[in-house]
Formats: sequence, C-alpha cells, structure tokens
Amino acid sequence: MPVISFATSKGGAGKTTSAIVLGTELAEGTQVIMIDADPAKRLTRWSTLAALPTSLRVVTSQGERFIQDEISDARSKATFVLIDLEGSASRLTSFAVAESDLVVIPSGEEQQDADAAIETLAEIEMEGKARRRAIPAAIVFARTSAAVKSKLEKHIHAEMTKVGRVMDTELHRRTAFSSLHNAGGGLRQLDPSDVNGIDKALLNAQAFASEIIDILEEVRHAQTA
Ligand SMILES: Nc1ncnc2c1ncn2[C@@H]1O[C@H](COP(=O)(O)OP(=O)(O)OP(=O)(O)O)[C@@H](O)[C@H]1O
Ligand SMILES: [Mg+2]
Repeated sequence: MPVISFATSKGGAGKTTSAIVLGTELAEGTQVIMIDADPAKRLTRWSTLAALPTSLRVVTSQGERFIQDEISDARSKATFVLIDLEGSASRLTSFAVAESDLVVIPSGEEQQDADAAIETLAEIEMEGKARRRAIPAAIVFARTSAAVKSKLEKHIHAEMTKVGRVMDTELHRRTAFSSLHNAGGGLRQLDPSDVNGIDKALLNAQAFASEIIDILEEVRHAQTA
C-alpha cells in the first residue's frame, strides 16, 4: 500500500503538520499508519495528546537500522503509510525516501523554503538514481496566506513549477492547523468554541487528501503503462 513521506531540509516548513492533516483525513475512511522518523518525535508527542481513531496508528521509528522493516510491516497492515521525516539529510531519511511511492515537500512562499525544496528534490532524484527508479515527488505550498499573492510569492511559485511538480492545493496558514499540535487528534475533534475557521480548514484538508490520492493514482498508472 502506498507510502508517502514528508521531507524538506527547511526546518518548520510544515512537514509534521501536513502529515497530521493528511493522516487524520485519510483515516476517516481507511486504515492509516504514520511513522515518526524524526528524532525530535513531534508526531509521537501529538499522538499522545488525544485519543486517535482505531483506523489511525502512530509508530515511533527505532531508527535507521529498523526503518525498512517498520515500513514494510506498516505497508502490510494499512491502506496508507505516512512518514514524517526530520529536516536534515540522514541515512534514515534516505532509506525512507527510497521506500516511498510519493515524497511530499512542504514549502512556504519564501526564498529559503524554495531553496530547501529544490535541494530536497535533488536529493530525492539522487536517491532514485541509486535505486534505479524515479521516486515521485510533489511540492505543496504550506503556511500560505489565502489572500492575493504578492510579486515575490508569484515569482517563487513560478520558480518551483520549473523544477518540480507543484500541487494545486495549498495548505493555508490556519489556526486550526497549528492548533492540532496543542489539542491532538484531527480537525474534526477541535472545539469550535476554542478554534476559529475549522470548516475552511476541513475543506482545505479534504482538497489536499483528494489531490494526493489523484497523484498516487497517476503515478501508479504511469508505472504500469
Ligand atoms: N498550514 C499551517 N497553518 C498554520 N500553522 C502551520 C501550518 N503548517 C505548519 N504550521 C506551524 O508551523 C510550525 C512548524 O510546522 P511543522 O512542525 O509542521 O514543520 P516541520 O517541517 O515538521 O518542522 P521540523 O523540520 O522542525 O520537523 C508549527 O508551529 C506549526 O503549527
Ligand atoms: Mg516536523
């Protein structure tokens, strides 16, 4: 079953948050295992804050010597496997990327994020060459404003579109998304009296999940064609 990793060398770009948003959304209809492969263990911490549905399990990776077995075990048990990676290149990261059907690269609309995304794309390509297969990757703009884009933001979008696949859906900067790190669980478990804009965040999350499923389907077709 598909393995989706979240990677970029930019710290704080939105890897863990985007993984939580996707994982909790997919778990509404299917079995999901999320692997926390970041030694900082932020995903593991999130998983302890609230009860998770039985369709969603979080596994804390025991490290680079175990990750391949952890992934293949998760693959055999879940419909989707999501891996949250650390922000720097490591053997753990490259093992996880090598096992991925799709690597999602979250990026803000700043030059530093764009540079990190480009560097991450290059690392994924190198990993693919070593494994003799192209590893599909997609950039998702995260923490973006829902307002009209500035000239710089447009420039960064154009730059990224030249180097890689950019998802149509953006994960906007929303309190509902950042609140997940405090409240635990998914958007549906947030309390509307505590957090604004849950409805919009939910629509955003659904669009993100459905585009990820479309990309995976496209990748699968391309591989079997
Ligand atoms: N779409 C979003 N809307 C609002 N806040 C966000 C969004 N994405 C990320 N954040 C916030 O930005 C911060 C960094 O996000 P996150 O932890 O997901 O990044 P990361 O890439 O996993 O970082 P690290 O490299 O440290 O693991 C967090 O405080 C998170 O709440
Ligand atoms: Mg993280």
